[in-house]
Amino acid sequence: MSFKKEIARRRTFGIVSHPDAGKTTLTEKLLLFGGAIQEAGAVKSNKIKKGATSDFMEIERQRGISVATSVLAFEYNGIKVNILDTPGHKDFAEDTFRTLTAVDSVIVVVDVAKGVEPQTEKLVEVCRMRNIPMIVFVNKLDREGKDAFELLDEIEEKLHLKVTPLSFPIGMGYDFKGIYNLWEKNVNLFSGDSRKNIEETIQVSNLEDSILDELVGEDSANNLREELELVQGVYPAFDQEEYLAGHQQPVFFGSALNNFGVRELLDCFVKIAPPPRPKMSEERLVLPNEDAFSGFVFKIHANMDPKHRDRLAFIKIVSGVFERNKPYLHVRNKKNLKFSSPNAFFAERKEIVDISYPGDIVGLHDTGNFKIGDTLTSGEILHYKGIPAFSPEHFRYINNADPMKSKQLAKGIDQLMDEGVAQLFTLELNGRKVIGTVGALQYEVIQYRLEHEYGAKCTYEPLGVSKACWVDPEDPKSEEFKEFLRVKQRFMAKDKRGQLVFLADSPFTLQMTQQKYPSVKMHYVSEFK
Ligand code: G4P
Repeated sequence: MSFKKEIARRRTFGIVSHPDAGKTTLTEKLLLFGGAIQEAGAVKSNKIKKGATSDFMEIERQRGISVATSVLAFEYNGIKVNILDTPGHKDFAEDTFRTLTAVDSVIVVVDVAKGVEPQTEKLVEVCRMRNIPMIVFVNKLDREGKDAFELLDEIEEKLHLKVTPLSFPIGMGYDFKGIYNLWEKNVNLFSGDSRKNIEETIQVSNLEDSILDELVGEDSANNLREELELVQGVYPAFDQEEYLAGHQQPVFFGSALNNFGVRELLDCFVKIAPPPRPKMSEERLVLPNEDAFSGFVFKIHANMDPKHRDRLAFIKIVSGVFERNKPYLHVRNKKNLKFSSPNAFFAERKEIVDISYPGDIVGLHDTGNFKIGDTLTSGEILHYKGIPAFSPEHFRYINNADPMKSKQLAKGIDQLMDEGVAQLFTLELNGRKVIGTVGALQYEVIQYRLEHEYGAKCTYEPLGVSKACWVDPEDPKSEEFKEFLRVKQRFMAKDKRGQLVFLADSPFTLQMTQQKYPSVKMHYVSEFK
């Protein structure tokens, strides 16, 4: 197959949702359709179960699963589908944000009863900012939930999306009869049999056709006719260009658990979702069909076995092909590296591959060369954009608890930060180290891993900081900036890249500081230029 055809047949996407909306179940059903797995239950939930915060075994279990489900690939109707795992747990939100830099589109799962939940709002906001094409799947239609129109309103309002339903439910919960597929113009009847894999669909091109009354009963049929009339009156027709530009989001309804409405979603997805998209680097826009290879690291996973300190770096291929045993330039290190055993990912296994194409993810064994955000190329100097650090929510001093092991501690901290487990800030005044995280859980993960993988011990000390702001003075030589640095010196720190950060102890202080020093801009995200 030609290079161009290989690119055109790839769909790399992520499924985002609030925990429990049905992401794992949907993923599994998609894999079943792709023939990648044979039975339900094969994809383990990577959720951290409630109350597991201090259960280290649970953390390890989660890490083990998350490497297995990092990338799930399968073929469907000649299309190579790559699903990138995005943890729903809020403590791992940064991991998800970074993974979203490697997807070309997204499916958002919403629970029909719970509606739009906080984690969905956050993740969709990130996708919206980057104009990532999104399809919404309203799940759990077999349960009583919100009225479809009410839910569509809620999705528009809370997620700031412009939706257009491509399927519509006939009844709901106890009374759920099926869905009308506006995209394919057919009715899919719900049998309630969760073991059924392939649903019977009946073509109903004309809604006035009496076959509809026969299929779902006269009342439901009339109801559906009215509702679809309203749908057509209220929502714009589906426009693929608008969807691809991130300006319109088609909506599907179904029940992942019952494998209902999933085939419709997948069939539409492979037709409309984008193949690998061009990506902006600091230097220029890079197109997937360029001959020269380029890609970037969006995830690093440490080996589960402490005896083997190697890690797996996940590279999204942006352009050209990636070949085994060929030298590539590690742009930050200015070094050429060769990889003898690059991994490709399938549903339940990984395999060494000779060649990978744009849109694909390869896993490279790494002994400490890579950091998140690193670029690898055929020789050109490129730096891919869009892997920013966000302000953490929690801050603590980290102290060495075993003076004999300070080297191990420094190395451990360094490598864990490269993996993106948390962020390190070094105070300007006294060089003390501060760890910032998105969730409290990470502190336990770090402590546990430092001890088990690096043989180092640490303790934490509370620190009254609520936000880290990246500092961006209009004029670094101005008196105002000098005064700011002098007055706030106790709160100034450097991040790992050496960027200056102001650690604000409260939203009030931050506000006051901004008022007093208006020429010193503050950003919650490390990438602002
Ligand atoms: P997540 O990955 O988004 O966190 O959600 P997951 O798929 O694990 O689903 C969360 C719960 O919702 C699971 O039940 C799952 O069986 C259920 N679920 C998913 N899709 C549907 C659906 O279409 N209808 C109904 N009624 N339930 C659905 P659980 O009891 O928490 O877990 P489990 O013990 O069944 O695994």
